[in-house]
Amino acid sequence: MAQIIPVQIFDAVVFGATGDLTLRKLMPSLYSRFRDGQMPRESRIIAAARTETTTDDYRARMMQGLHDHIAASDFDEAIAAQFCACVHYTMLDGVTGEGWEGLVKLLAAEPERIRVFYLATAPDLYGPICRNLAANHLVTAASRVVLEKPIGHDLASARAINDEVGHIFEESQIYRIDHFLGKETVQNLMALRFANAIFERLWNADVIDHVQITVAETVGVEGRAGYYDKAGALRDMVQNHLLQLLCLLAMEPPVSLDPDAVRDEKLKVLRGLRPISAHEIATHTVRGQYVHGVSDGKPVPGYASELGHASQTETFVALKAEVQAWRWAGVPFYLRTGKRLPQKVSEVVVQFRAVPLSIFPPGASELEANKLVIRLQPDEGMLLKLMSKDPGPGGLRLRPARLDISFQKAFNTRYPEAYERLLMDAVRGNPTLFMRRDEVEAAWQWIEPIIHAWADATEAPRPYAAGSWGPTAAIALIERDGRTWHEDWGEEG
Ligand code: BG6
Repeated sequence: MAQIIPVQIFDAVVFGATGDLTLRKLMPSLYSRFRDGQMPRESRIIAAARTETTTDDYRARMMQGLHDHIAASDFDEAIAAQFCACVHYTMLDGVTGEGWEGLVKLLAAEPERIRVFYLATAPDLYGPICRNLAANHLVTAASRVVLEKPIGHDLASARAINDEVGHIFEESQIYRIDHFLGKETVQNLMALRFANAIFERLWNADVIDHVQITVAETVGVEGRAGYYDKAGALRDMVQNHLLQLLCLLAMEPPVSLDPDAVRDEKLKVLRGLRPISAHEIATHTVRGQYVHGVSDGKPVPGYASELGHASQTETFVALKAEVQAWRWAGVPFYLRTGKRLPQKVSEVVVQFRAVPLSIFPPGASELEANKLVIRLQPDEGMLLKLMSKDPGPGGLRLRPARLDISFQKAFNTRYPEAYERLLMDAVRGNPTLFMRRDEVEAAWQWIEPIIHAWADATEAPRPYAAGSWGPTAAIALIERDGRTWHEDWGEEG
């Protein structure tokens, strides 16, 4: 186990402290860092929200959240109680500026400390909260602000938010979270590509036929319909998580791991994405919405029934993207993501080209091209599909074989939650795994024509049964190119 180096003592102010993200992800992540000795005990977490409640009641609610969202094997009642003692609740209105005196007083007690302002709120509150932070003189040189995704709902609103926040904080103080970048296996994409000579030499159009990125979820909208119905899968997942994965897969080797060296390379990928033109929308994009079906063995209602009204919002997206770069000329990147799919699985499939000429007689079994499957979650690991001799007498017959490694089994260690790493990086002042302003805006720039085309379309998102792999049009999107989605997660996959 790696040695854990404590971060400096800090004050974290979480806006949106009674929300789902705070109680389900942020607090459990901070608890884990506290338990492991990385978060100094003198640090304070100041929970801020509009709800009228006391610190004691908030701590009780938080304790319940820790119980619910931390694995029993990682939970220690006494440590959780010590952690809760670091938390203070303050009631304020982020927009009107009412009730900020409590926060001002708390922070005034430790003016030199690192301050992390975590905005776990809707993006239209980022500007007003930052203005109130400035008006109350709370922004110090040692302050950072953390913004949750999505930043805005299109390019113009993202720019407006970036301008507003940028008016108060320097770009180096702004941490735009994409929690996929904090996942161990997503970080491992860089290790895989740049710490192993065998991959990088093959990582190009000469050898690779195409790449697939799948982020599938079994859940529906889970009580987030208010947010989700305005966002949809394109804004909620593709604009950020899937495009960030694409960047890490397609970027050139950065000169170092310096934050800007990495982000400069990712930006080049985003800027190199070929825009999908209006007449390609029908062939390069598919949007779907789940109808009733079966999920995890139980009947579940369709999206519109969950909402209580009809909606044009997509819960599934499939796209064909192309990166305009010599390295990737002619190599499509197929992306898909959706709710109520049959499995929770995030993975990358790198499909290599077939051998140029087979020396094996027909009938020696079909020669399949190599495939590298990088499993990001669950069962983090990697699988390389190879052709091998079918053992036994009677001639040289071929058979697919798998080199399969499960990181969990290989390293026998707990995989920290993405937020654990990202929160500590924000305290440490390391923005490598956060999105820079130009990245967010370049991603919106590529997404926006799709948003517009879908908004203008007369046809509704294509229906798919909950528990299926999305609309059949998504299969057609890839099969039109003579390829198929990798859907075989069984032993023979
Ligand atoms: C969030 C999206 O960013 O990522 C959710 O808003 C989605 O809709 C979630 O469910 C998926 O994250 P994870 O870590 O569970 O794969």
